[in-house]
Amino acid sequence: MADHRRRRKAAGSRPGRVAGARAAGATPSRSGAAPANRPLDATAAEIGALERLAAGVARRWRATRRTAPIVPTPRQVADLAPRFAGPLPWHAEPMERLRSDLDALATLSRRNDSPRFWGYVSPPGTAPGIVADGLAAAINQNLTAFRSAPGASLVEIQVIEWIREIVGLPRGAYGVLTSGGSMANLAGLAAARDAAVPFDLGRRGLRGEAGRPLVLYTSEEAHHSIAKAAALLGIGRDYVRAVPVDRRLRMDAGALREAVRRDRRARLAPFAVAASAGTVTTGAVDPLRDIWRLCRRERLWLHVDACYGGFAVLAPSGRPLLRGLSLADSIALDPHKWLYAPVDAGCVLYRRPEAARRAFRVDADYTRMFGAGRLEQHAFWDYGPELSRRFRALKIWLGFKYHGAGEFARAIEADLRLARLLARKVREAPRLELLSAGDLGIVCFRYVPPGPRRPEAELERLNERLLLELQREGRVFVSNARVRGRFTLRACLVNYRTTEADLDLLVQRVQAIGRPSAPAGCAYSGDQRGTRPGV
Ligand SMILES: Cc1ncc(COP(=O)(O)O)c(C=O)c1O
Repeated sequence: MADHRRRRKAAGSRPGRVAGARAAGATPSRSGAAPANRPLDATAAEIGALERLAAGVARRWRATRRTAPIVPTPRQVADLAPRFAGPLPWHAEPMERLRSDLDALATLSRRNDSPRFWGYVSPPGTAPGIVADGLAAAINQNLTAFRSAPGASLVEIQVIEWIREIVGLPRGAYGVLTSGGSMANLAGLAAARDAAVPFDLGRRGLRGEAGRPLVLYTSEEAHHSIAKAAALLGIGRDYVRAVPVDRRLRMDAGALREAVRRDRRARLAPFAVAASAGTVTTGAVDPLRDIWRLCRRERLWLHVDACYGGFAVLAPSGRPLLRGLSLADSIALDPHKWLYAPVDAGCVLYRRPEAARRAFRVDADYTRMFGAGRLEQHAFWDYGPELSRRFRALKIWLGFKYHGAGEFARAIEADLRLARLLARKVREAPRLELLSAGDLGIVCFRYVPPGPRRPEAELERLNERLLLELQREGRVFVSNARVRGRFTLRACLVNYRTTEADLDLLVQRVQAIGRPSAPAGCAYSGDQRGTRPGV
């Protein structure tokens, strides 16, 4: 008898294991006996039953895409939350119980897949993305280095090469997939930091040879992951300059030049600029070419946070907005934003990969490579902070292969067109005020009641209430932000399901709920409806 079958037979007769309980989906508890656990080494029938269970939950989730509230109602939260506060299940639970728990989980999940979800830069995901994530778990490759996952490594190397080509970095530029944009920003700035000092910073620490603090420049509108990276890298938030922005909320290149001069005069050590290619609040793109020229003159590293906007280079009307992206020394991108991949999938690219190796390379006996070939020597850990990494590349690779890159270009172009359309509708609608029609798919606006102009504080309170009502109603979903100090509703058009009719509904609901006589909604006790931007 094969080893594997012998184990199976023995398992069936172990104490606490009820004969027949291995039938797929069977409830192991019988006749008062202690319920058995299901062995970790599942049979094909058990795997099939689990797959059917998950497929059923996903099918029901998809079927309610257009009818379910975009966020769960307070009633649903109150009813279903106790299911997720139970004790550790020491014994296997019946399949039926798992099914209803997973259905409850779906009910309590925000519908990022709804055509009317524009709250954050959280696109709906794609079919190959869903399948690839399942397959990645099935083959469970750990992408530490080529030798640990040869096929998966080839796929990731290919994906990195495709992304390099998309953003226009020269051949030889390279990088790694990360969990998301925050990690990609951290990795890019780590390489920048280590390139700025003439000694081995990894070994000697961040004292700086001449004791002069390093200074990083970014804009007032930059994502908070830049300041967080600076804190984690020992640069310190006090040494991050938030350069003022111009009328279009882009970094003011003149103000940047002045800030660098001031810091040099103060004997500080400017080392890098983190520019934005699509800010989180309005989608503004900093003047990348002007900033690059300054970086070259001042010998500063140019890192571009293109997590939000980078993939818009694929679209005809996005490409001109992103001129200069290919000049960067490092770029952070988020395939889980405008490549519509399910989370998580970020990416960092380095113009000179040796700078990344300088920051990340470590030697340990247990990671020593013996193969002589270039591929066999390849280690992803030389390009980012992580060692064990999941097979994120598969969903991106399969997405391109299945849909074609041209289809992503078409979808992004359609998003950009819808954003322009929404901006126009807002401009034309009575009682709505456009606060920013970001070129890159984000539209910020607010409700302004008729009659004499209200004070800012009153407009803020009114729009806060309106936003909460809108979200509670569950038919459309936008988030909030602040544009030039003013509270705003924010719609991120990164959703290939959205139609013009959906935008009309948004305008109509904002106008209806904003009316002073509109009834106030029910109180909400959960915290799922927090209104933090950028999530
Ligand atoms: C401009 C920008 N940079 C960085 C990030 C962080 O990306 P992630 O959430 O993938 O860490 C975001 C997230 O919204 C973003 O919009």
